Amino acid sequence: MSQDTFCVVFHAQIPFDRIPHQFKSGPMFLQALEDGLKKADADPSVKAVMICGENGKFSAGADIRGFSSPKTLGVALGPIVSLIESSEKPVVAAIEGVALGGGLEVALGCHYRVAHAKARMGLPEVTIGLLPGAEGTQRLPRLIGVPAALDMITTGKHIPATEALKLGLVDEIVEENTIEAAIRLANKVIGQPLGPRRLSLKPVPKLPNMEAFLQEAQVKVKRQARGFLAPELCFQAVQAATQRPFAEGVRRERELFQVLLSSGQAQALQYAFFAERAVHRWATPGGINLLFIIFDSILLLSLGLGTMGQGIVTSLVKANIPVVALEQNLEYLNKGRKAVMVLLEREAKKMEGGAQKLDFHNPARLQFTVDFNLLHDVDLVIEAVFENMALKKEIFHKLSNICKPGALLCTNTSALDIDEIASATSRPQQVIGTHFFSPAHVMRLLEIIYGRHTSPSAIATAMQLAKDMKKVGVVVGNCFGFVGNRMMFPYVEQAVFLLEEGSRPEAVDQVLEDFGFKIGPFRMSDLAGLDVGWRSRKGQGLTGPSLPAGSSARQRRGQRYSPLPDLLCERGRFGQKTGKGWYQYERAGGRTATPDPWIHGFLSQYRDTHRIETRYIDQEEILERCLFSLINEGFAILAEGIASGPEHLDVIYLNGYGWPKHRGGPMFYASTVGLPRVLAKLQKYSEAHPDVPKLRPSAFLKKLVAVGNAPLKEWMSYLSRQSPKL
Ligand code: NAI
Repeated sequence: MSQDTFCVVFHAQIPFDRIPHQFKSGPMFLQALEDGLKKADADPSVKAVMICGENGKFSAGADIRGFSSPKTLGVALGPIVSLIESSEKPVVAAIEGVALGGGLEVALGCHYRVAHAKARMGLPEVTIGLLPGAEGTQRLPRLIGVPAALDMITTGKHIPATEALKLGLVDEIVEENTIEAAIRLANKVIGQPLGPRRLSLKPVPKLPNMEAFLQEAQVKVKRQARGFLAPELCFQAVQAATQRPFAEGVRRERELFQVLLSSGQAQALQYAFFAERAVHRWATPGGINLLFIIFDSILLLSLGLGTMGQGIVTSLVKANIPVVALEQNLEYLNKGRKAVMVLLEREAKKMEGGAQKLDFHNPARLQFTVDFNLLHDVDLVIEAVFENMALKKEIFHKLSNICKPGALLCTNTSALDIDEIASATSRPQQVIGTHFFSPAHVMRLLEIIYGRHTSPSAIATAMQLAKDMKKVGVVVGNCFGFVGNRMMFPYVEQAVFLLEEGSRPEAVDQVLEDFGFKIGPFRMSDLAGLDVGWRSRKGQGLTGPSLPAGSSARQRRGQRYSPLPDLLCERGRFGQKTGKGWYQYERAGGRTATPDPWIHGFLSQYRDTHRIETRYIDQEEILERCLFSLINEGFAILAEGIASGPEHLDVIYLNGYGWPKHRGGPMFYASTVGLPRVLAKLQKYSEAHPDVPKLRPSAFLKKLVAVGNAPLKEWMSYLSRQSPKL
């Protein structure tokens, strides 16, 4: 290193408050950075400063754990970034590994930036409900222009060094030693004027149509955010950079940062982040962590190539697992093969230019067959035939006879009893539920359901499969609908009851989409296919030929029942696949839902037939009846030991049911609403609808309220019986 260059080592291992040697906490680290800079400034022998990270990483930003504490981070870092910028000696950032969040903001304070070709940069604060609070929203647009800065700040995306160079975010990229290159540059620029390199002094580059651009961008951000505040406030901070001088823009950034901190959304996202990590750490009752079975030469059979089978096969090929796809006859096989090929072609296009190639034309990696004899060699079967217990049992009996002894037998049922399916085999310890979500090649959730006899190694293998498929595996117990669908039943039931009482599919969907769901219950039902539930209800004797003669239209087993979904199915309205369901679509398989006047007429006729008085139902009632009945079921699930904790339920909802991340999951949401309020509302609706048992508050919820609105992390300690797990 040249004697003229002073080096400030900026510890990179993620948090500012996890600096192992000298510094133990954020403020101390910031103090050390400030002291280093002041020392360099005061020392006449130092002519330039280079800031780099340790161990090949510049900085991954702040520790997510610190985000609930308002005094931390951006707000404290901002003045130091200004201090760097105001240095009379050139300061060069040497960016290796990552420069994210506060790390990139420090680099923006430097006068020059040199990056390694493999480095990545970004301002990901938005993804945890915040905004870059160390003046990053003001400096970045001045450096790379408003459109590119808005894109980075409102999405939180990471960009590679090559793109950073094109945008002008870095001055130079190098393949070899970044630190040496930064020092070389520092020495070269000694004595050159620093004014033009100080971003706070630069104007934001003008756009010919800035107003119109900003208006359009704001509409887009709002539409995508659905109640998630951070993207919109990120937008407002960048907008301030275009309208105000730097110092005022920084003040606005700080105000907006405080709004986000106090909104509770950052805490919800932080909770969601740690909840996902918690569900991976699943252990046997004795606390023994399971050893995962490593399978590198697994041959997997996907049985049934319908909606789910197609997505599952696509995910397996993407995970580089050899697959045999089996169908009942050639007609279904060809249809399924065609659909899988379309999906894989699409995936291959998305992956173009990346390191991984999809090898799906190779029969050793992907085979389609109707020959059951191929089952001899597979290590793992995922069955995805129709939701019909008799059919599933017949298939599992066959599998048990044909598959090799160690093969794991998985069923992708939505709700059926794993133990009953396992009873058709001679190896119930190897039978397990693997509940994928539609579309299975997109959705991250995999609910893993163990039965009475399922072995720990079968669970571990299913968890490993989830990991290999880059999915979030959540282990749950066996009950009708497991966790996700069991909580969904009362939610959908309420949605349909609301239609009976006077609402419309699009009104109910709107309320839940405004809450933040990607799609409301009726759009979701159209996407999944109404026939799946219909088949299940027929199997339960709730509708169809096994319904006892003389049954009341709107009552089953002494409870309120709505035949509306059955009536739609009887008319062939299965949703998107038939082009008609709760909405109408442009064609069978179409995706654009349009409100259907036929449905409106049908609903009013239905109300007349059953003498139901149509009433106006407000948004609050729609939201509360749908969400609180779902949450109520969650408390019942926890009390029965079906899931290990509220985090498991929340991870399931965040990854499989489109629950808005900024609301942390249904159980977290309940804790933010306050359990006494949830209980009071359930009591009110239950009194108004005494024939709806799912509105009756769960005993566990009542207990948690009685002990004084216990905080979420203590809930499980109030249960006398904890999850049996195995
Ligand atoms: P689907 O009706 O689209 O496909 C079922 C496929 O199984 C058909 O292609 C059929 O030919 C095939 N099949 C039937 N009997 C067979 C046999 N004996 N041998 C080989 N193949 C056979 O149904 P979908 O929607 O794919 O559902 C499959 C399973 O996944 C069901 O248990 C369902 O409950 C479950 N599921 C469905 C979800 C959805 O959103 N559609 C979500 C999660 C689970």
